[in-house]
Amino acid sequence: MLTQLDEIEKTALAALASAQDETALEAWRITHLGRSSPLMQVFDQLGKLSKEERPAIGRRANEVKRALEGAQAERLELSRQLALARSLQSERLDVTLPGRPFPKGRLHPSTQILRRIYRIYAEMGFQAYRTREVESDEYNFELLNMPPHHPARDMWDTFHTSSPGVLLRTHTSPGQVRVMREYYPEPIRVILPGMCYRYEQVSARKDIQFNQVEGLTVGYQITFSDLKGTLTDFARRMFGEAVRIRFRAAYFPFTEPSAEMDIECFLCEGKGCGVCSGSGWLEILGCGMVHPVVLRNGGYDPEKFSGYAFGMGPERIAMLRYRVPDIRYFWTNDLRFLEQF
Ligand code: PHE
Repeated sequence: MLTQLDEIEKTALAALASAQDETALEAWRITHLGRSSPLMQVFDQLGKLSKEERPAIGRRANEVKRALEGAQAERLELSRQLALARSLQSERLDVTLPGRPFPKGRLHPSTQILRRIYRIYAEMGFQAYRTREVESDEYNFELLNMPPHHPARDMWDTFHTSSPGVLLRTHTSPGQVRVMREYYPEPIRVILPGMCYRYEQVSARKDIQFNQVEGLTVGYQITFSDLKGTLTDFARRMFGEAVRIRFRAAYFPFTEPSAEMDIECFLCEGKGCGVCSGSGWLEILGCGMVHPVVLRNGGYDPEKFSGYAFGMGPERIAMLRYRVPDIRYFWTNDLRFLEQF
């Protein structure tokens, strides 16, 4: 029986050497140390042995059992360490690698241009003032020297609402009278940015919705030279010292005299294209000296006060700065376009 125990030990240890992982080790334990293993059968038979034989065999059987258990524990520990080393190796982290980039949002090109415009005018001492997008006929037209049925109203194709006299503002100019009525009798130097709406035939340079930045000054000795100087300086700060600009005489009912300012069309280098409709110039703003009627509507006495006003199109400016060939891109929400800014 002692030789049988030696044999049991030898076979079990030999089998253990080839048990590679925890599952194999568990299978090994069941075969060699489990209830029906040869070793346990020896224990079962101890009772049947003679008094003389029992102690030696019992001691040896216990020895074998401890030896097998010890060897198995060692083997288990080893295989755990191996598994850990293997996973550290294969899942290695290189902490010096740059992080994974994630898509970054960005500001809409109109917002970027608007912010440049705010900064330029802020440097010149203009305050920003916001007024409503849903306006009354009174502020959008009447107080700007366009009574009902005035032919100049045709210059602004208008979205009317179902409430009579309520419309979407066609320009930021109604803000002029709102500011004057609030600030009277202080001098004024403000810009009024915001969205405007026109019931227009859409084209490469006209959309039904667009931003405008209105400018308004009212003071004691403001002249047309101040207007020209301010806008020329604006164009240089926006497009660079070398920019070519021109003022053209124009007509607006709420300014007298009136003008429009053009910037040379960068899209075609002045050769003429769809955006500048072949002229080589792109109109970016209308302007003029505030009409006496408008000053009076705002509460200011035109005998004492004068002022200038302008209204510029940030999307037109963005088209020139970024060479965008069609104004419709701005509100189509196409990421391929927006991600370029
Ligand atoms: N409101 C005019 C427009 O939308 C522009 C303008 C503003 C002209 C202020 C003169 C003075 O066309």
